[in-house]
Amino acid sequence: MCGIVGYTGFQDAYDIVINGLRRLEYRGYDSAGIVLEDGNNKLEVEKTKGKVEDLVNISSQLKGKAKIGMGHTRWATHGVPSDRNSHPHLSNNGKLAIIHNGIIENYDTIKTMLTGKGFTFKSETDTEVLVNLIQYFMDLNAETDFPTAVRYALNEVYGAYAITVMHEDYPGVLVVGRLGSPLAIGIGDKEYFIASDASPFVEFTKEAIYLEEGHMATISLENGVDIRTITENSKIIPEIQKLKLSLEQIEKSGYEHFMLKEIFEQPKSVHDTMRGRLLVEEGVIKMAGIWDHIERFKNANRIIIIACGTSWHAGLIGEYLIEEYARIPVEVEYASEFRYRNPIITDKDVVIAISQSGETADTMAALKLAKEKGAFIYGICNVVDSSIARITDAGSYTHAGPEIGVASTKAFTAQLTILSLIALKLGKHNGNLGNADFMSLIAELDAIPKKIEDVLSSTHELVQNIAKDFVNATNFLYLGRGYNYPAALEGALKLKEISYIHAEGYPAAEMKHGPIALIDENMPIVIIAPKKGHYDKIVSNVQEIKARKGKVIAVVNNGDTQVSEMSDYVIEIPETSECFSPIVASVPLQLLAYYIAVYRGANVDQPRNLAKSVTVE
Ligand code: AGP
Ligand code: GLU
Repeated sequence: MCGIVGYTGFQDAYDIVINGLRRLEYRGYDSAGIVLEDGNNKLEVEKTKGKVEDLVNISSQLKGKAKIGMGHTRWATHGVPSDRNSHPHLSNNGKLAIIHNGIIENYDTIKTMLTGKGFTFKSETDTEVLVNLIQYFMDLNAETDFPTAVRYALNEVYGAYAITVMHEDYPGVLVVGRLGSPLAIGIGDKEYFIASDASPFVEFTKEAIYLEEGHMATISLENGVDIRTITENSKIIPEIQKLKLSLEQIEKSGYEHFMLKEIFEQPKSVHDTMRGRLLVEEGVIKMAGIWDHIERFKNANRIIIIACGTSWHAGLIGEYLIEEYARIPVEVEYASEFRYRNPIITDKDVVIAISQSGETADTMAALKLAKEKGAFIYGICNVVDSSIARITDAGSYTHAGPEIGVASTKAFTAQLTILSLIALKLGKHNGNLGNADFMSLIAELDAIPKKIEDVLSSTHELVQNIAKDFVNATNFLYLGRGYNYPAALEGALKLKEISYIHAEGYPAAEMKHGPIALIDENMPIVIIAPKKGHYDKIVSNVQEIKARKGKVIAVVNNGDTQVSEMSDYVIEIPETSECFSPIVASVPLQLLAYYIAVYRGANVDQPRNLAKSVTVE
């Protein structure tokens, strides 16, 4: 949700915190703030509504002043984005500063209690309540030291948080805690870094500790990292991870936006997702996560796929794939609905969670529920060692590399790749997919990265020209059938997220049951019509649209004639098996959304009101 960065060491804390915030800005970006402890044990805070660059404009005098500090980019949950509501927040006595990612659900009760004791509040945030609760515990008993007071306070709150706290009487010390929101501690030589993910410190150290749920840590140059459980204060020996992330992966490499870079990375990311798993010459799919638990899958009553947003769209395609090839019943659920509707789950069910970030709160909570009920939990995550990846029984990483643009692109096609591998593997194993079909499908899947590459080069310029004609559109319809119905939903989501044009995805045949009423000469309709997959039916749908003068942008296979002749704009893509066609068809739709948004002057990588990982309910 928001980005957290902290530093204690020998370098200039201002530079490290600001550069770290720049890298984390994709997580939340309505306000930004920084606090440093100057050499005289005084906390200095600068914060503002707006972006990290707005913060830089008002805070440059802090450069070179401190060796310890922390910063935050906010995605508001409690109180509008404003200077006052920005983090860091100070306690009433001015000695404590906090940055927080998440929600303190019982903040109101605590606020009432603290107000009764004479505390006052400058902001509307839940966060300011927590920092004052820490002060309250220190005031209550002079013996209570800073880390202990943080622990007492965290035992009183519930909700979700990753916090970092500084105290001006404890120079060089950072106290952090986590429940439900991620936090990594980078371990350097005589320096420590704190961040929501490892990107702010990857050039300084490759060693990190990912703080576990319900743990807190006191970090100081003198005593290193002391990790404890929040409830029991039991000491924990942490596992130090070796980071594989490189600086290059998290930079734009000459592209104007991360989103464009990530769209163009797809030949590689899809290939990386298959690497070592799809062995075409040997005729096998190797997936340890599935193989080690093959009986669980084989004997499953059903598979329930849980996800949100784009990952949910991937799940819908997963349903088509697994039901078609493995013949195991699949249900796809929005995580947020699943968890609150008293679902029937048994220990015969397999639950697959799909999440790029591996931190989505709704998905995480739904998984916990399924786990409690005894289901076997499988994760498809992109971020290695993310919270979801860690609570699942088994899983497969997508290996798409860091995705920084808020609009998901390469993670989606990588998710589809994993789901294809799973479906084919299960189908082959349980005998529903004969050897010849299996062999031809894996050869087809293996060819997908090259087809994406061809689409990128053959449609890039064309799509830019099409986009120019729709800069002023106010509505869009996206239609597809079968496997490409979810691809239509995803195409519509991409457009609305980044261009703010209202867009709806529909199964093409459903159009006549309602949305057809919207069609007139001003309505652009993107229709996905590959040769394999109900083509004749789609031809009829296009006729219905043209009879009402809708503007058709058709995604068709190379050399198509029938749909192309009726369409106003034609985007050609190479032919592939129907089940893989959403992977290829999604690429020009991503480009279309991207260029329409760019021409409208929108901030493509950081669209309004959104955040990359949604760690609150
Ligand atoms: C994608 O473009 C969206 N920004 C969003 O719908 C996203 O897919 C959703 O929040 C789920 O995220 P996750 O995959 O990290 O769990
Ligand atoms: N709940 C806090 C706020 O609204 C933190 C939000 C965040 O995660 O950025 O300020």
